[in-house]
Amino acid sequence: MNQQAVTLNERILVSTLRGTEPEPATPRDTGAPAGAVAAVTGAAGGIGAAIAARLTADGYAVALLDISDAVHLTRDDIGAPLSARLDVTDREDVQHVLAEVIKATGRLDVLVNCAGTAHRSSFADTSAQEFLRDINTNLLGTFLTCQAAVFPHMRAAGRGRLINIASVSGKTGGIGSVHADGSGGRSGAGYASAKAGVINLTRWIAREVGHLGITSNAVAPGPIATAMTDGHHYDTANIPIGRLGTPEEVADAVSWLAGRGAGYVNGIVLDVDGGLTRA
Ligand SMILES: NC(=O)c1ccc[n+]([C@@H]2O[C@H](COP(=O)([O-])OP(=O)(O)OC[C@H]3O[C@@H](n4cnc5c(N)ncnc54)[C@H](O)[C@@H]3O)[C@@H](O)[C@H]2O)c1
Repeated sequence: MNQQAVTLNERILVSTLRGTEPEPATPRDTGAPAGAVAAVTGAAGGIGAAIAARLTADGYAVALLDISDAVHLTRDDIGAPLSARLDVTDREDVQHVLAEVIKATGRLDVLVNCAGTAHRSSFADTSAQEFLRDINTNLLGTFLTCQAAVFPHMRAAGRGRLINIASVSGKTGGIGSVHADGSGGRSGAGYASAKAGVINLTRWIAREVGHLGITSNAVAPGPIATAMTDGHHYDTANIPIGRLGTPEEVADAVSWLAGRGAGYVNGIVLDVDGGLTRA
């Protein structure tokens, strides 16, 4: 793709996509439609960046979205055409940025919700503010971005894939880890509740949008080696595969859900946890 990064406005960087011919079939032949566009939130983070890189390799023009300005550097590293600063908890911001992405590209085929925060404070010490922060970034943010992607764009297009990154914490009531300083680090009540909410929200949306040609699925990673887990020790003896997962392994699952092979898959939670919750 012949691209030149340009500034559309102060909020969003886009590339000029030269030429009118759609992209040829992707090297991996995942079923990405020619010229397809994907948006990934939390794309400056470990898992989000890996997902953005994988979808780029799959042939999507990817818009990397994150509350951190580092997202623009990640875009350059990956060689993706778009990036924008976005706060997923702000409904106006979400609607504006997704509309800008769609205006710049003419379409939105895949939305991946990967933005998240995680607190690890104890039951006794968790403040209302801490609890609500994780509810807002993980759960409200997922709702707002899915809503803005479907209405009006995906509904009008008659197609779309919504892929939400949940967590095993949303299925098990949180998983334990020990921080290097010896303190306990089980994922907190707000985080575990938010991720449980993401799982059921994903199913709820699946029932709403399936007849519109849109699917809604979740991926539930176990502990993955990123900044979120850095400095925390996990008991890998409890994980049948015996190690933490990698961001690329989560990205593989997202790639499959976005691709042709998952056309009739709707409302599932795909565990990428080395067997932690299944075996
Ligand atoms: N790392 C793990 O072990 C693990 C396990 C299960 C699920 N997850 C989930 O995977 C996702 C990515 O996690 P990660 O490990 O890459 O973490 P990370 O901290 O590296 O990335 C999270 C990203 O979300 C962004 N973000 C936070 N608040 C935001 C907001 N309001 N608006 C937009 N962006 C915001 C951050 O800037 C960051 O770039 C999260 O949803 C996380 O809960 C991670």
